[in-house]
Amino acid sequence: MKKTSLTGIKPTGTPHLGNYLGAIRPALELSKNYDTVYFIADYHALTTVQNGAQMRENIYKVAATWLALGLNPEEGLFYKQSDIPEIFELSWALSCFTPKGFMNRAHAYKDKVAKNMANGEDPDANVNMGLYGYPCLMNADILMFKADIVPVGKDQKQHVEFARDIAIRFNKHFGKEVFTVPEPVIQESTDVIPGLDGRKMSKSYDNIIDIFLESKALKKKLGKIVTNSQGIEEPKDPDSCNVFKLYKLFATPEQTDALAARYRAGGMGWGHAKAELQNVLEEQLGPAREKYFHLLNHTEEIDKILAYGKEKARIRSKEMMDIVRETLGTF
Ligand code: TRP
Repeated sequence: MKKTSLTGIKPTGTPHLGNYLGAIRPALELSKNYDTVYFIADYHALTTVQNGAQMRENIYKVAATWLALGLNPEEGLFYKQSDIPEIFELSWALSCFTPKGFMNRAHAYKDKVAKNMANGEDPDANVNMGLYGYPCLMNADILMFKADIVPVGKDQKQHVEFARDIAIRFNKHFGKEVFTVPEPVIQESTDVIPGLDGRKMSKSYDNIIDIFLESKALKKKLGKIVTNSQGIEEPKDPDSCNVFKLYKLFATPEQTDALAARYRAGGMGWGHAKAELQNVLEEQLGPAREKYFHLLNHTEEIDKILAYGKEKARIRSKEMMDIVRETLGTF
């Protein structure tokens, strides 16, 4: 039997190359050898996205991104988290087995508290209970569908470790294997995906490159990647260049070596390097871009796919909740 790979993407904005390289591409790669459970974590996004129109638009964008990049909704499961009420029931049940100290130690919450204190504010200023309890909901996401592996970025590793811990505790407490113990799979090579300014690509740094930009907009965006002020003739160091770092993440090893050689030889300007980056992006993402915009212009197709995904996923989530309720004695 195939093992299960599960991951979720939060609809907090337009998916960018960091999401693609760090989460979507590796997750799709795994679909060759694993049963997949990939979903839109909309109720996780609710801790920050609190505008209905914005949320709906973000959900469609994330759905269209997965589908355009090749996720096959016929295989495995593809759904919107909020469509599966059992997840929220499980989240509550698991929270009763989760030490409060885990939540205190969760990175996202801890960082927020540290920032508040540094600013001389109340430690819990602007911390809603959704943010505080975020890991409990994530535990339910992961344990509901018996995930064996969870491909995530490094920042999510702690959350998957919480899920592991809670699965082990719960199973031990009741003396039976109710939950599968999951393992995080971290993409090391794409650990730090540079944004326009060379810092980690992140919406909060305002340095992102969207996955699907029309050629013209893409060119303009790539123009903003920060480089040094070396002239065309000067030999350049590829490894310290933000353009090259991104190029490497998309190009074949041969293409990468060839561009590195051009950097070192001199006679190549930053505009040329950016054009090469554009070529490789167009090559790899151009065809998916058509599909992405088609879906966004026909959201009823997305609705249909999500309704189908919901139906399929709820067969499994209901089965799991039957087992959990029987274990808890709540029926
Ligand atoms: N918290 C994840 C993020 O911010 C998204 C997410 C929600 C997730 N539930 C999940 C990832 C379950 C993996 C498994 O990126």
